[in-house]
Amino acid sequence: MKQIVLILMSLLIFSCSSKAQKQTADTDRQSDKRILVAYFSCTGTTEKVATAIAKETGGKLYRITPATAYTSADLDWNDKASRSSVEMADEKSRPALGGETIDLKDYDVVLLGYPIWWDLCPRPVNTFLEKYDFAGKTVIPFATSGGSSITGSVKQLKKLYPKIEWKEGRLFNGGTANVAGWSKQIIEKL
Ligand SMILES: Cc1cc2nc3c(=O)[nH]c(=O)nc-3n(C[C@H](O)[C@H](O)[C@H](O)COP(=O)(O)O)c2cc1C
Repeated sequence: MKQIVLILMSLLIFSCSSKAQKQTADTDRQSDKRILVAYFSCTGTTEKVATAIAKETGGKLYRITPATAYTSADLDWNDKASRSSVEMADEKSRPALGGETIDLKDYDVVLLGYPIWWDLCPRPVNTFLEKYDFAGKTVIPFATSGGSSITGSVKQLKKLYPKIEWKEGRLFNGGTANVAGWSKQIIEKL
């Protein structure tokens, strides 16, 4: 009888310790990749999603800030002469950035958020991608839009920046509802 009790106790101790090990492994997996959640947003939609993603992934939130903020007149896509229309019509346009600089060496993975503008990412996002050395970094795009998919913007980003290791992007047009599930999925795949 004593032997049976001893065997049962050892089994219990073993199962508890392997569970604890698994929990540590799960926690490690979240923390061993250093994540930057860099986003551009003019009217707050992408910012909300980016904030939720940073919370879910434990990533550092970073706002891609244009040196000169966009006014609502600048964002008028019906006006061919508006700042956004002029910039998006010129594929070489790279509006200057302001805000803090970052040290990309501190991060392994960048989650890159932006609104879709004319089926592409806004030009300040290109400025950001060209300002820092992204070679060999994993970048996972996410976007918000008025209905367009993320596909056209990702296709152009892959073409312009082939040295980046691009992972599949995701459009969040239902607010932050799907953020938790998506964040969990990407962390598991990193
Ligand atoms: C200049 C400009 C161009 C846009 N072009 C598109 C577009 O091609 N397709 C689309 O679905 N939405 C388009 N939109 C809508 C934005 O993608 C959408 O409102 C986005 O969620 C705004 O994000 P933000 O609040 O983070 O700036 C455009 C918006 C602006 C200001």
